[in-house]
Amino acid sequence: MDASAPSKGIFDSANREARERVVGLLGKAYWMEIETVMSYIAASVNLDGVRAQEIKESLAEDVEEELGHAKQFAARIKELYGVVPGSEDFAAEQSFLQPPEEQTDIVHVIRGVIKAETGAIEHYTRIVEETDGVDPVTQDMTIAILHDEQGHRRLFEGFLREYEFEGMA
Ligand SMILES: [Fe+2]
Ligand SMILES: [Fe+2]
Repeated sequence: MDASAPSKGIFDSANREARERVVGLLGKAYWMEIETVMSYIAASVNLDGVRAQEIKESLAEDVEEELGHAKQFAARIKELYGVVPGSEDFAAEQSFLQPPEEQTDIVHVIRGVIKAETGAIEHYTRIVEETDGVDPVTQDMTIAILHDEQGHRRLFEGFLREYEFEGMA
């Protein structure tokens, strides 16, 4: 091998192991987004009541954003020579975002969304750390997605604060 050959970074054969590790992390991120799409569609339709409208609209918008994230993670898996997993590999994790007993229980949904966004923030922060100096393209993409999730979390924290202030949470 020519020692003076320019580096292809994450595409270098010497970086095969790192590339496979990143693909693994991206696969988990992909499933997190897909499950969030499912949970947010359900919540954006299920909730009842005058006060639920704002939350429902916000979640309906987020569905599109989370789907966009899933597509970005999938495309990056492909670029890194991975394979986007099939549906049989899916395992649900969002026990906290199952429909509440009462569909007017907005606080249950708000808390569930905050938990889902927190989980995404933690996993994407890990991807940013693990790709540092290894795969700047995946890192850059994930930072932008992480920014979106921080915005989602902050918005729903604000919703929760309102309910707490009024003694309803
Ligand atoms: Fe997302
Ligand atoms: Fe999100």
